[in-house]
Amino acid sequence: MYRVLVSTIVLLSAALLASRSLLPPVQAAQTAAPATTPVQADYREWIFLTSGLDMTYDAPGGAGLPAQQHSVFDNVFVNPEAYRSFLKTGTWPDDTTFVLENRKGESDVSINKAGRTQGRDVTGIELHRKLHGEWAFYVRAEKGTEKLVARPASCYTCHEQHAAVDTAFVQFYPTLLPVATERHTLSAAYVHDPETKPDGR
Ligand code: HEC
Repeated sequence: MYRVLVSTIVLLSAALLASRSLLPPVQAAQTAAPATTPVQADYREWIFLTSGLDMTYDAPGGAGLPAQQHSVFDNVFVNPEAYRSFLKTGTWPDDTTFVLENRKGESDVSINKAGRTQGRDVTGIELHRKLHGEWAFYVRAEKGTEKLVARPASCYTCHEQHAAVDTAFVQFYPTLLPVATERHTLSAAYVHDPETKPDGR
């Protein structure tokens, strides 16, 4: 009996080891995205989705933007092919690339007496790309190349938990939210997010 038990354990362990080695290496899957990617020079001719101003995830009165700090705009663009595909399907195809561009919000420029206008210099660039079904984030490194943000990182968790369609923040893109709502492509995470308002925004 003892021998049978021992040999069963040996067999089971061997089977376990074998099945483990068949599993795809998680690390390899995560690094399928290239480590760097250039920002397309003509992204300013892509489809403009929104300009967020001083967006923060913290509650008002928390670590938000104190009055004395500079305002920051984030302008979001997407490649035209992906935009057109989204209009038809309500989802993001492969080879979708978003560019998020930061510019300082400036006051008292030219004839402007109140409110904010956008500064001339780009102060930050972030990318969100879908390649072979896998999303990856990039942030601008020196010399204008964008560096892959490796998992785990807050980019992935926040976008996966709160973004309206396939990890992209469609709830803030006014021309696209109605498309996703109509086509029922809103993510379950977003629909059930306690932050989502009763009108679906
Ligand atoms: C706490 C939540 C949160 C985190 C963390 C976060 N983002 Fe986002 N991200 C947002 C929101 C909200 C928007 C919508 C911006 C708008 O409406 O202007 C957004 C939009 C974007 C977009 C435009 C495309 C899209 O997916 O909707 C890019 C690119 C982006 N983020 C990159 C990044 C990168 C890179 C990181 C990590 C370094 C990051 N984000 C971390 C909340 C987050």
